[in-house]
Amino acid sequence: MTIGEAYSIAVNKAKGKGFFSQDIRRLLVHHENLRDQLDVITEKNREMSNVEAFFSDLDRLLNDEPIEYIIGEAEFLTHRLKINEHVLIPRLETEELVSVFSERINEYFNPKNMLAVADIGTGSGCIAIAIKDAFPSFLVYASDVSKNALEVAKENIARSGKDIIVLEGNAIEPYISSGRKLDLIVSNPPYITEGEYVQPSVLNHEPASALFFHEESNVYKSVLESLDKVRNGPIVLFFEISPQLVDYLKQLMASTLSDYRFSFLEDSNGFVRFLVIDVG
Ligand SMILES: C[S@@+](CC[C@H](N)C(=O)[O-])C[C@H]1O[C@@H](n2cnc3c(N)ncnc32)[C@H](O)[C@@H]1O
Repeated sequence: MTIGEAYSIAVNKAKGKGFFSQDIRRLLVHHENLRDQLDVITEKNREMSNVEAFFSDLDRLLNDEPIEYIIGEAEFLTHRLKINEHVLIPRLETEELVSVFSERINEYFNPKNMLAVADIGTGSGCIAIAIKDAFPSFLVYASDVSKNALEVAKENIARSGKDIIVLEGNAIEPYISSGRKLDLIVSNPPYITEGEYVQPSVLNHEPASALFFHEESNVYKSVLESLDKVRNGPIVLFFEISPQLVDYLKQLMASTLSDYRFSFLEDSNGFVRFLVIDVG
């Protein structure tokens, strides 16, 4: 069977199931060692070398498993990252969070200075790697409560060749216990609230510990409650949030902080998605 034949059989199988032919091409690139999706066309007469593995993974794809988990890889800005079931697949909104960070930082600090920034709940390490890439002079930390997620982050950090310090623990506790001081915090913590619709492909495959917000204990609360322990002077926080959390977060700021200013910002889909807080 040729690559072209396998592609048309797969597209036919997927018809009417709401799949993108782009995902099928990505699967072919992965299994047939192609350079990119264009090769699916230019190499269409080449004999397949992994027919069985391709069709078995096609079944996973048609069963709603995200392509990133099947091929073990995801893209984030200019970075190609290893992904597995222990980490969230980086989202476009989080690329926007990094843009918001990069664009707004001048309002608070001289970005040429050596500033200490923590990516809390780093998952695959995507935010920390992108920030170190954009701001090489920063001292960048990446932390997560999940040991398994940190294994993935460490691998991605090593592959990126960037100097990023990895810490394990709840919210800002690992920074407090190791006596580190921060100028900036960036975080995309679990933020899906009870009753919010979650697509089955997300619910069935992405780690629950990366998805769901709990009012009694959550990263926003832990960070804001202990913020004074990790700052020497002013500190600026960039959070990704759910629009459902706006009122909760306003109350949380009012009950935990003094001398602070904040802005909620929308993502490109028009949802309130980011919260920037400057304290001190
Ligand atoms: C929504 S995912 C974000 C992953 C990655 N930063 C991204 O943007 O793709 C949230 C991450 O926070 C971690 N996490 C959950 N609760 C935490 C806590 N209390 N302290 C530190 N990390 C936590 C999860 O393990 C998960 O990796």
